[in-house]
Amino acid sequence: MKMVRELRKSLSIWRKIRTFCSVHEVIEALRRTLWLLPLQFRYKNRRKLNSLIICSDINLMEIIEFKNNELILIDQTKLPLSEEYVTCRTVEEVASAIKTMVVRGAPAIGITAAYGMVIGKDPKNDSETLKQARPTAVDLSNAVNYMLREIKEGKNPEIAAREWHQKIIEKTKKISENGASLIKSGDTVLLHCNAGPLATGAYGTSLGAALAAHKQGKKIFVYVDETRPRFQGALTSWELKKAGVPHKVIVDSSAGALMRMGKVNCIMVGADRIVKNGDFANKIGTYPLSILAKENKIPFYVLAPISTFDFKAKNGKQIVIEERNGKEVLEIQGKRIYAEGIEATNLAFDVTPKKYVSAYITEFGVHKKVLEVKDHLGVKS
Ligand code: MRU
Repeated sequence: MKMVRELRKSLSIWRKIRTFCSVHEVIEALRRTLWLLPLQFRYKNRRKLNSLIICSDINLMEIIEFKNNELILIDQTKLPLSEEYVTCRTVEEVASAIKTMVVRGAPAIGITAAYGMVIGKDPKNDSETLKQARPTAVDLSNAVNYMLREIKEGKNPEIAAREWHQKIIEKTKKISENGASLIKSGDTVLLHCNAGPLATGAYGTSLGAALAAHKQGKKIFVYVDETRPRFQGALTSWELKKAGVPHKVIVDSSAGALMRMGKVNCIMVGADRIVKNGDFANKIGTYPLSILAKENKIPFYVLAPISTFDFKAKNGKQIVIEERNGKEVLEIQGKRIYAEGIEATNLAFDVTPKKYVSAYITEFGVHKKVLEVKDHLGVKS
Protein backbone atom coordinates (compact mmCIF):
# COMPACT_ATOMS: atom_id res chain seq x y z
CA MET A 1 0.00 0.00 0.00
CA LYS A 2 2.83 2.50 0.99
CA MET A 3 4.59 1.68 -2.27
CA VAL A 4 1.54 2.64 -4.34
CA ARG A 5 1.06 5.85 -2.33
CA GLU A 6 4.77 6.78 -2.80
CA LEU A 7 4.55 5.92 -6.51
CA ARG A 8 1.51 8.18 -7.02
CA LYS A 9 3.09 11.10 -5.07
CA SER A 10 6.48 10.96 -6.81
CA LEU A 11 4.89 10.57 -10.29
CA SER A 12 2.75 13.66 -9.61
CA ILE A 13 5.92 15.58 -8.61
CA TRP A 14 7.89 14.41 -11.67
CA ARG A 15 4.88 15.33 -13.88
CA LYS A 16 5.13 18.86 -12.33
CA ILE A 17 8.90 18.93 -12.89
CA ARG A 18 8.22 18.58 -16.58
CA THR A 19 7.28 22.28 -16.32
CA PHE A 20 9.02 24.15 -13.58
CA CYS A 21 9.21 23.75 -9.85
CA SER A 22 11.24 24.77 -6.88
CA VAL A 23 14.46 23.18 -5.71
CA HIS A 24 12.60 21.90 -2.62
CA GLU A 25 10.30 19.89 -4.89
CA VAL A 26 13.29 18.52 -6.81
CA ILE A 27 14.76 17.34 -3.51
CA GLU A 28 11.36 15.94 -2.44
CA ALA A 29 11.05 14.14 -5.79
CA LEU A 30 14.58 12.78 -5.49
CA ARG A 31 13.86 11.56 -1.92
CA ARG A 32 10.74 9.71 -3.07
CA THR A 33 12.43 8.57 -6.31
CA LEU A 34 15.40 7.10 -4.51
CA TRP A 35 12.74 5.06 -2.83
CA LEU A 36 11.42 4.14 -6.25
CA LEU A 37 14.59 4.50 -8.38
CA PRO A 38 13.94 1.71 -10.94
CA LEU A 39 10.72 3.34 -12.13
CA GLN A 40 11.86 6.88 -12.56
CA PHE A 41 14.86 7.19 -14.82
CA ARG A 42 12.69 8.01 -17.83
CA TYR A 43 12.79 11.74 -17.30
CA LYS A 44 12.62 13.58 -20.65
CA ASN A 45 13.40 17.18 -19.90
CA ARG A 46 16.89 16.70 -18.53
CA ARG A 47 17.65 20.13 -20.06
CA LYS A 48 15.08 21.90 -17.88
CA LEU A 49 16.28 20.10 -14.79
CA ASN A 50 19.84 21.11 -15.73
CA SER A 51 18.80 24.76 -16.08
CA LEU A 52 17.16 24.58 -12.66
CA ILE A 53 20.32 23.05 -11.19
CA ILE A 54 22.54 25.68 -12.90
CA CYS A 55 20.70 28.54 -11.24
CA SER A 56 21.01 27.02 -7.80
CA ASP A 57 24.17 29.03 -7.06
CA ILE A 58 21.83 32.03 -6.62
CA ASN A 59 19.29 30.60 -4.20
CA LEU A 60 16.24 31.93 -6.02
CA MET A 61 14.00 30.44 -3.40
CA GLU A 62 15.22 33.15 -1.09
CA ILE A 63 13.93 35.90 -3.40
CA ILE A 64 10.58 34.80 -4.90
CA GLU A 65 8.97 31.46 -4.08
CA PHE A 66 5.50 30.25 -5.02
CA LYS A 67 4.23 27.29 -3.01
CA ASN A 68 0.80 26.00 -1.98
CA ASN A 69 -0.84 28.99 -3.67
CA GLU A 70 1.15 31.39 -1.50
CA LEU A 71 3.83 33.81 -2.70
CA ILE A 72 6.81 34.14 -0.37
CA LEU A 73 8.99 37.21 -0.95
CA ILE A 74 12.21 38.25 0.76
CA ASP A 75 11.45 41.71 2.21
CA GLN A 76 13.84 44.02 0.35
CA THR A 77 12.86 46.96 2.59
CA LYS A 78 14.58 45.16 5.47
CA LEU A 79 17.71 44.08 3.59
CA PRO A 80 20.64 43.99 3.98
CA LEU A 81 20.50 44.30 7.78
CA SER A 82 17.75 41.73 8.30
CA GLU A 83 16.48 38.80 6.20
CA GLU A 84 12.69 38.71 6.67
CA TYR A 85 9.99 37.23 4.45
CA VAL A 86 6.51 38.36 3.47
CA THR A 87 3.82 35.82 2.49
CA CYS A 88 1.13 37.01 0.07
CA ARG A 89 -2.15 35.08 -0.01
CA THR A 90 -4.33 37.58 -1.93
CA VAL A 91 -3.90 39.70 -5.08
CA GLU A 92 -4.20 42.83 -2.93
CA GLU A 93 -1.29 41.65 -0.77
CA VAL A 94 0.80 41.00 -3.92
CA ALA A 95 -0.03 44.49 -5.28
CA SER A 96 0.84 46.01 -1.89
CA ALA A 97 4.19 44.16 -1.80
CA ILE A 98 5.01 45.72 -5.19
CA LYS A 99 3.79 49.23 -4.23
CA THR A 100 5.67 49.29 -0.90
CA MET A 101 8.82 47.86 -2.58
CA VAL A 102 8.97 44.67 -0.51
CA VAL A 103 9.81 43.38 -3.99
CA ARG A 104 11.33 45.83 -6.47
CA GLY A 105 13.26 45.85 -9.75
CA ALA A 106 11.39 45.57 -13.07
CA PRO A 107 11.80 41.80 -13.81
CA ALA A 108 11.15 40.79 -10.17
CA ILE A 109 7.98 42.93 -10.18
CA GLY A 110 6.87 41.14 -13.38
CA ILE A 111 7.44 37.65 -11.92
CA THR A 112 5.63 38.65 -8.72
CA ALA A 113 2.64 39.94 -10.71
CA ALA A 114 2.53 36.70 -12.72
CA TYR A 115 2.24 34.69 -9.50
CA GLY A 116 -0.31 37.26 -8.29
CA MET A 117 -2.49 36.26 -11.25
CA VAL A 118 -2.28 32.62 -10.03
CA ILE A 119 -3.43 33.49 -6.50
CA GLY A 120 -6.34 35.60 -7.79
CA LYS A 121 -9.45 33.94 -9.22
CA ASP A 122 -10.78 36.94 -11.19
CA PRO A 123 -8.24 37.60 -13.99
CA LYS A 124 -9.83 40.81 -15.31
CA ASN A 125 -10.05 42.64 -11.98
CA ASP A 126 -6.86 41.07 -10.63
CA SER A 127 -4.93 42.32 -13.64
CA GLU A 128 -6.13 45.90 -12.98
CA THR A 129 -5.26 45.64 -9.28
CA LEU A 130 -1.74 44.48 -10.11
CA LYS A 131 -1.10 46.91 -12.98
CA GLN A 132 -1.93 49.87 -10.72
CA ALA A 133 0.76 48.95 -8.18
CA ARG A 134 3.54 50.93 -9.93
CA PRO A 135 3.40 52.70 -13.36
CA THR A 136 6.94 52.85 -14.81
CA ALA A 137 8.35 49.28 -14.98
CA VAL A 138 6.71 47.76 -18.10
CA ASP A 139 7.58 44.20 -16.97
CA LEU A 140 4.54 44.51 -14.68
CA SER A 141 1.96 44.97 -17.46
CA ASN A 142 3.88 42.68 -19.86
CA ALA A 143 3.75 39.82 -17.30
CA VAL A 144 0.09 40.44 -16.44
CA ASN A 145 -0.93 40.59 -20.13
CA TYR A 146 0.99 37.36 -20.79
CA MET A 147 -0.90 35.67 -17.93
CA LEU A 148 -4.24 36.98 -19.23
CA ARG A 149 -3.45 35.45 -22.65
CA GLU A 150 -2.33 32.11 -21.16
CA ILE A 151 -5.38 31.89 -18.87
CA LYS A 152 -7.67 32.76 -21.81
CA GLU A 153 -6.11 29.88 -23.76
CA GLY A 154 -6.91 27.55 -20.85
CA LYS A 155 -3.29 27.15 -19.66
CA ASN A 156 -2.74 26.13 -16.02
CA PRO A 157 -1.97 29.54 -14.41
CA GLU A 158 0.69 28.17 -12.05
CA ILE A 159 2.55 26.50 -14.91
CA ALA A 160 2.29 29.69 -16.99
CA ALA A 161 3.67 31.83 -14.15
CA ARG A 162 6.51 29.38 -13.53
CA GLU A 163 7.30 29.46 -17.25
CA TRP A 164 7.51 33.27 -17.16
CA HIS A 165 9.83 33.04 -14.12
CA GLN A 166 12.01 30.43 -15.79
CA LYS A 167 12.25 32.50 -18.97
CA ILE A 168 13.51 35.46 -16.93
CA ILE A 169 16.08 33.14 -15.32
CA GLU A 170 17.34 32.02 -18.74
CA LYS A 171 17.23 35.52 -20.28
CA THR A 172 19.10 37.21 -17.40
CA LYS A 173 21.76 34.50 -17.47
CA LYS A 174 22.43 35.34 -21.12
CA ILE A 175 22.29 39.10 -20.44
CA SER A 176 24.83 38.69 -17.62
CA GLU A 177 27.18 36.77 -19.91
CA ASN A 178 26.69 39.23 -22.81
CA GLY A 179 27.35 42.12 -20.42
CA ALA A 180 30.41 40.40 -18.92
CA SER A 181 31.89 40.16 -22.44
CA LEU A 182 32.18 43.99 -22.38
CA ILE A 183 34.13 43.99 -19.09
CA LYS A 184 37.90 43.40 -19.26
CA SER A 185 40.04 42.16 -16.39
CA GLY A 186 41.31 45.22 -14.47
CA ASP A 187 38.20 47.27 -15.31
CA THR A 188 36.30 49.41 -12.82
CA VAL A 189 32.54 49.30 -13.37
CA LEU A 190 30.13 51.87 -11.95
CA LEU A 191 26.67 50.56 -11.04
CA HIS A 192 23.55 52.62 -10.24
CA CYS A 193 20.56 51.28 -8.25
CA ASN A 194 20.20 47.49 -7.82
CA ALA A 195 19.81 45.30 -10.91
CA GLY A 196 21.00 41.99 -9.51
CA PRO A 197 19.36 38.69 -8.41
CA LEU A 198 17.08 40.56 -5.97
CA ALA A 199 15.77 42.88 -8.72
CA THR A 200 15.20 40.08 -11.21
CA GLY A 201 14.36 36.97 -9.17
CA ALA A 202 17.11 35.55 -11.37
CA TYR A 203 20.67 36.37 -12.47
CA GLY A 204 20.38 40.15 -12.62
CA THR A 205 21.20 42.49 -15.49
CA SER A 206 23.86 45.21 -14.91
CA LEU A 207 24.92 43.72 -11.57
CA GLY A 208 24.54 40.28 -13.17
CA ALA A 209 27.21 41.25 -15.72
CA ALA A 210 29.65 42.29 -12.96
CA LEU A 211 28.93 39.04 -11.05
CA ALA A 212 29.45 36.99 -14.23
CA ALA A 213 32.72 38.79 -15.08
CA HIS A 214 34.01 38.14 -11.55
CA LYS A 215 32.91 34.51 -11.81
CA GLN A 216 34.82 34.24 -15.09
CA GLY A 217 37.93 35.15 -13.10
CA LYS A 218 38.24 38.72 -14.36
CA LYS A 219 39.84 41.04 -11.75
CA ILE A 220 37.23 43.81 -11.53
CA PHE A 221 36.38 46.59 -9.10
CA VAL A 222 32.93 48.15 -8.69
CA TYR A 223 31.75 51.60 -7.59
CA VAL A 224 28.22 51.37 -6.21
CA ASP A 225 25.99 54.45 -6.25
CA GLU A 226 24.14 54.48 -2.92
CA THR A 227 21.04 55.51 -4.90
CA ARG A 228 18.99 57.58 -2.53
CA PRO A 229 16.31 57.82 -1.29
CA ARG A 230 15.71 54.05 -1.05
CA PHE A 231 19.42 53.06 -0.92
CA GLN A 232 19.25 50.29 -3.55
CA GLY A 233 23.06 50.59 -3.46
CA ALA A 234 22.96 48.78 -0.11
CA LEU A 235 21.28 45.81 -1.87
CA THR A 236 23.91 45.88 -4.65
CA SER A 237 26.72 46.01 -2.12
CA TRP A 238 25.17 43.09 -0.21
CA GLU A 239 24.97 40.95 -3.37
CA LEU A 240 28.55 41.92 -4.37
CA LYS A 241 29.80 41.07 -0.89
CA LYS A 242 28.07 37.66 -1.00
CA ALA A 243 29.87 36.98 -4.30
CA GLY A 244 33.22 38.29 -3.04
CA VAL A 245 33.48 41.14 -5.61
CA PRO A 246 35.75 44.04 -4.52
CA HIS A 247 33.74 47.29 -4.42
CA LYS A 248 33.11 50.58 -2.64
CA VAL A 249 29.90 52.54 -2.14
CA ILE A 250 29.81 56.18 -3.26
CA VAL A 251 27.36 59.04 -2.93
CA ASP A 252 25.74 59.37 -6.36
CA SER A 253 27.00 62.95 -6.80
CA SER A 254 30.65 61.82 -6.62
CA ALA A 255 30.36 59.71 -9.79
CA GLY A 256 31.29 62.64 -12.06
CA ALA A 257 34.49 63.38 -10.13
CA LEU A 258 35.57 59.72 -10.23
CA MET A 259 34.94 59.61 -13.99
CA ARG A 260 37.00 62.77 -14.54
CA MET A 261 39.80 61.29 -12.43
CA GLY A 262 39.84 58.38 -14.91
CA LYS A 263 38.74 55.88 -12.24
CA VAL A 264 35.78 54.43 -14.17
CA ASN A 265 36.05 52.22 -17.30
CA CYS A 266 32.36 51.68 -17.98
CA ILE A 267 28.90 52.31 -16.53
CA MET A 268 26.24 49.61 -16.52
CA VAL A 269 22.59 50.26 -15.62
CA GLY A 270 19.34 48.33 -15.75
CA ALA A 271 16.08 49.68 -17.14
CA ASP A 272 12.39 49.85 -16.28
CA ARG A 273 11.09 50.66 -19.74
CA ILE A 274 12.94 50.91 -23.06
CA VAL A 275 10.77 52.43 -25.79
CA LYS A 276 10.68 52.26 -29.59
CA ASN A 277 13.24 55.00 -30.34
CA GLY A 278 15.69 53.77 -27.69
CA ASP A 279 14.99 56.27 -24.91
CA PHE A 280 14.68 54.48 -21.58
CA ALA A 281 13.53 54.96 -18.00
CA ASN A 282 15.57 53.78 -15.03
CA LYS A 283 16.20 54.74 -11.40
CA ILE A 284 16.42 58.48 -10.77
CA GLY A 285 19.99 59.63 -11.30
CA THR A 286 20.59 57.50 -14.43
CA TYR A 287 20.10 60.42 -16.88
CA PRO A 288 22.80 62.68 -15.31
CA LEU A 289 25.15 59.65 -15.17
CA SER A 290 24.71 59.16 -18.92
CA ILE A 291 25.64 62.79 -19.67
CA LEU A 292 28.73 62.59 -17.43
CA ALA A 293 29.72 59.35 -19.17
CA LYS A 294 29.46 60.98 -22.61
CA GLU A 295 31.39 64.05 -21.40
CA ASN A 296 34.16 61.78 -20.10
CA LYS A 297 34.04 59.37 -23.08
CA ILE A 298 33.10 56.40 -20.89
CA PRO A 299 30.91 53.60 -22.36
CA PHE A 300 27.36 53.69 -20.94
CA TYR A 301 25.54 50.35 -21.24
CA VAL A 302 21.87 49.51 -20.65
CA LEU A 303 21.08 45.89 -19.81
CA ALA A 304 17.54 44.47 -19.84
CA PRO A 305 15.47 41.46 -20.95
CA ILE A 306 12.92 41.81 -23.74
CA SER A 307 10.16 41.97 -21.06
CA THR A 308 11.44 45.50 -20.31
CA PHE A 309 10.89 46.79 -23.85
CA ASP A 310 7.75 48.75 -24.77
CA PHE A 311 7.54 49.13 -28.53
CA LYS A 312 4.09 50.73 -28.27
CA ALA A 313 5.62 53.93 -26.82
CA LYS A 314 7.36 55.96 -29.53
CA ASN A 315 9.77 57.97 -27.33
CA GLY A 316 10.68 58.82 -23.73
CA LYS A 317 8.04 61.53 -23.44
CA GLN A 318 5.41 58.77 -23.38
CA ILE A 319 6.87 57.08 -20.27
CA VAL A 320 4.89 57.62 -17.06
CA ILE A 321 7.36 58.51 -14.29
CA GLU A 322 6.35 57.34 -10.81
CA GLU A 323 6.43 60.03 -8.12
CA ARG A 324 6.57 58.54 -4.64
CA ASN A 325 5.88 59.96 -1.18
CA GLY A 326 8.25 62.82 -0.22
CA LYS A 327 8.73 61.16 3.19
CA GLU A 328 11.14 58.73 1.49
CA VAL A 329 13.46 61.74 0.97
CA LEU A 330 12.75 63.57 4.24
CA GLU A 331 13.30 60.52 6.44
CA ILE A 332 15.98 57.84 6.70
CA GLN A 333 14.64 54.52 8.02
CA GLY A 334 11.65 56.33 9.49
CA LYS A 335 13.69 59.05 11.24
CA ARG A 336 13.01 62.58 9.97
CA ILE A 337 16.22 64.45 8.98
CA TYR A 338 14.61 67.70 7.77
CA ALA A 339 12.88 70.39 9.82
CA GLU A 340 9.13 69.98 10.27
CA GLY A 341 7.04 71.47 7.47
CA ILE A 342 9.68 70.95 4.77
CA GLU A 343 8.37 69.14 1.67
CA ALA A 344 10.20 67.03 -0.95
CA THR A 345 9.66 66.02 -4.59
CA ASN A 346 10.46 62.33 -5.01
CA LEU A 347 10.70 61.23 -8.64
CA ALA A 348 11.48 57.51 -8.60
CA PHE A 349 12.76 57.33 -12.21
CA ASP A 350 14.11 59.54 -15.00
CA VAL A 351 14.33 59.14 -18.78
CA THR A 352 17.67 58.92 -20.59
CA PRO A 353 17.60 59.84 -24.29
CA LYS A 354 18.97 57.21 -26.68
CA LYS A 355 21.87 59.50 -27.75
CA TYR A 356 23.63 58.80 -24.45
CA VAL A 357 23.45 54.99 -24.78
CA SER A 358 26.60 53.21 -26.05
CA ALA A 359 24.81 49.87 -26.41
CA TYR A 360 21.76 47.90 -25.26
CA ILE A 361 22.50 44.42 -23.90
CA THR A 362 19.72 41.85 -24.05
CA GLU A 363 19.44 38.06 -24.07
CA PHE A 364 19.97 38.30 -27.85
CA GLY A 365 23.33 40.05 -27.59
CA VAL A 366 24.91 43.53 -27.65
CA HIS A 367 22.99 46.03 -29.80
CA LYS A 368 24.12 49.48 -30.89
CA LYS A 369 20.52 50.39 -31.77
CA VAL A 370 17.13 49.26 -30.44
CA LEU A 371 16.28 48.52 -34.09
CA GLU A 372 18.41 45.35 -33.82
CA VAL A 373 16.34 44.18 -30.84
CA LYS A 374 13.13 44.79 -32.77
CA ASP A 375 14.51 42.63 -35.60
CA HIS A 376 14.94 39.78 -33.13
CA LEU A 377 11.25 40.09 -32.31
CA GLY A 378 10.14 40.75 -35.89
CA VAL A 379 8.66 44.07 -34.67
CA LYS A 380 7.89 46.38 -37.63
CA SER A 381 9.71 49.82 -37.44
O1 MRU B 1 12.35 51.56 -7.63
P1 MRU B 1 13.03 50.26 -7.98
O2 MRU B 1 14.02 49.81 -6.96
O3 MRU B 1 12.09 49.19 -8.39
O4 MRU B 1 13.90 50.63 -9.31
C1 MRU B 1 14.65 49.60 -9.88
C2 MRU B 1 15.44 50.07 -11.04
O5 MRU B 1 15.39 51.20 -11.50
C3 MRU B 1 16.29 49.01 -11.72
O6 MRU B 1 17.45 49.56 -12.24
C4 MRU B 1 15.48 48.41 -12.87
O7 MRU B 1 14.21 48.04 -12.40
C5 MRU B 1 16.16 47.23 -13.47
S1 MRU B 1 16.16 45.86 -12.43
C6 MRU B 1 16.92 44.66 -13.35
